Amino acid sequence: MPKHLISIHDFSRDEILKTLKAAAAFEQNPSQPIFADKVIASIFFEPSTRTRLSFETAANRLGARVIGFSDIGNTSVTKGETLKDTIKMVSNYADLIVIRHPLDGSARYASEVSSVPVINAGDGTNQHPTQTMLDLYSILKTQGRLENLKINMVGDLKYGRTVHSLLQAMSHFNPSFLFTSPDELKMPQEYKEYLKKLNIPYQETKQLSDGINDADIIYMTRVQRERFTDPIEYERVKNIYSLNLSMISNCKPNMKILHPLPRVNEISQDVDSSNHAYYFEQAENGVYTRMAIIALLLGVENL
Ligand code: CP
Repeated sequence: MPKHLISIHDFSRDEILKTLKAAAAFEQNPSQPIFADKVIASIFFEPSTRTRLSFETAANRLGARVIGFSDIGNTSVTKGETLKDTIKMVSNYADLIVIRHPLDGSARYASEVSSVPVINAGDGTNQHPTQTMLDLYSILKTQGRLENLKINMVGDLKYGRTVHSLLQAMSHFNPSFLFTSPDELKMPQEYKEYLKKLNIPYQETKQLSDGINDADIIYMTRVQRERFTDPIEYERVKNIYSLNLSMISNCKPNMKILHPLPRVNEISQDVDSSNHAYYFEQAENGVYTRMAIIALLLGVENL
């Protein structure tokens, strides 16, 4: 296994599959205190509910102790301490660091100055590889396979780090994609070039209704106010899509709706009780996949 998980590209196809297998074993038996002698640092420079709490739950279920912060206002960052110095300090205290940071590339930089494994829990608009691992696990659990699936990614495809990581991970499994977004939030060219090089088909649309009935997975995303520099542009697109129950009446029987959450109003509450809604279970899957990632990066080979 690689030392760090910064980009989903750090894990090969086989390593991804190994992680998903380990996650399934942890789901079967979620309390395995194999790291009673380990300390895991959870350092969040940006808000989070699911990623931080599921990482901390995962660490606790593995018997590790957790240190860290979720509010930089209480840290020496407010006195001007650099990211480099913060990471050097934390890697003196902990055996593994989980970091979320608003700057693209910050997690990679942290891994370069850390003496212990670093896991990227989201860096700006760039990558969110552990979210991708739980997305893959959710897809595998609900569809019974990862290969040959039609995935409709909807919403903020420009700034959404979860769709960028997921697109790259799914490229191992012969997918086809539909990208549903307004012009302002289209999938960046670099990701489309990446798919072209791999001969992976994709189409683009602005209409949410175009890609519902033939999708295996609809991956909804939030329009992220915090990524916009122009508030007027955000106001123009913030309510562009809202998936409701009547819109999915002719979808495939096993179609599942995923969302990394939090949602604002892009999925109507009436969808929550549908058999197609899977976003809350998806978030629960984060505990098992993060247990697997921690265990593998800390050198446990036989899970
Ligand atoms: N999916 C996700 O990253 O959620 P949080 O921002 O709550 O961690």
